Amino acid sequence: HLMVDHVLSMPRGAAVIYPKDSAQILVEGDIFPGARVLEAGAGSGALSMALLRAIGHDGKLISYEIRDDHLEYAVSNVEEYFGERPATWDPRLGDLKEVTVDDLGGPVDRIVLDMLEPWECLETCKDLLIPGGVFMTYVATVPQLMKVMEGLRELQCFTEPRAWESLIRDWKVEGLATRPEHRMNAHTAFLVLARRLADGVTPPRPQRRARR
Ligand SMILES: C[S@@+](CC[C@H](N)C(=O)[O-])C[C@H]1O[C@@H](n2cnc3c(N)ncnc32)[C@H](O)[C@@H]1O
Repeated sequence: HLMVDHVLSMPRGAAVIYPKDSAQILVEGDIFPGARVLEAGAGSGALSMALLRAIGHDGKLISYEIRDDHLEYAVSNVEEYFGERPATWDPRLGDLKEVTVDDLGGPVDRIVLDMLEPWECLETCKDLLIPGGVFMTYVATVPQLMKVMEGLRELQCFTEPRAWESLIRDWKVEGLATRPEHRMNAHTAFLVLARRLADGVTPPRPQRRARR
């Protein structure tokens, strides 16, 4: 069946990234066929599936998950959807904070985080991403958003991070009763995106309007 149906119905240990947000991650995060992508935590494997489809046959997705029970959900959900474990997927039990470039067999093009404390992994991500590579994280709350944005700025090796959210409102289309649906999922999470600068390049300061 369709991936969106699988994601919404599959068993889970951790909350999944919903299709509206994985769609944003794939396009804004520039996940391309052949990309080397690092993901953490794998959680229930929902985002892994979307990433695996986008990287195609020549890409590589390495997904770290710190909890073995969650990794089991991710592996079984992904294998059920694809009918086997994709050759391009490398799910690993471990803490992203401890990962080195050697563990990955070289730097990656894209990093996508979905975890409670992504700011704790920023130093690690800095070392794992190619210059120009895209870092993205998905955070549910405003304090998380503030901490991760501040962390990215402090490291001085990322572009000024962009933060946004997406709101999808379905419509009922029935003659004269055509109107937006009354109910919607108003909040899932915020997305944050920054690009890794080459070493030695200083990030441009965010432009602020002069106060009068
Ligand atoms: C909300 S879930 C991810 C859901 C996943 N994106 C999906 O769509 O199914 C967050 C996961 O991050 C894991 N996690 C938290 N900190 C981690 C770390 N430092 N390294 C690896 N995994 C971590 C947690 O155990 C949890 O399973």
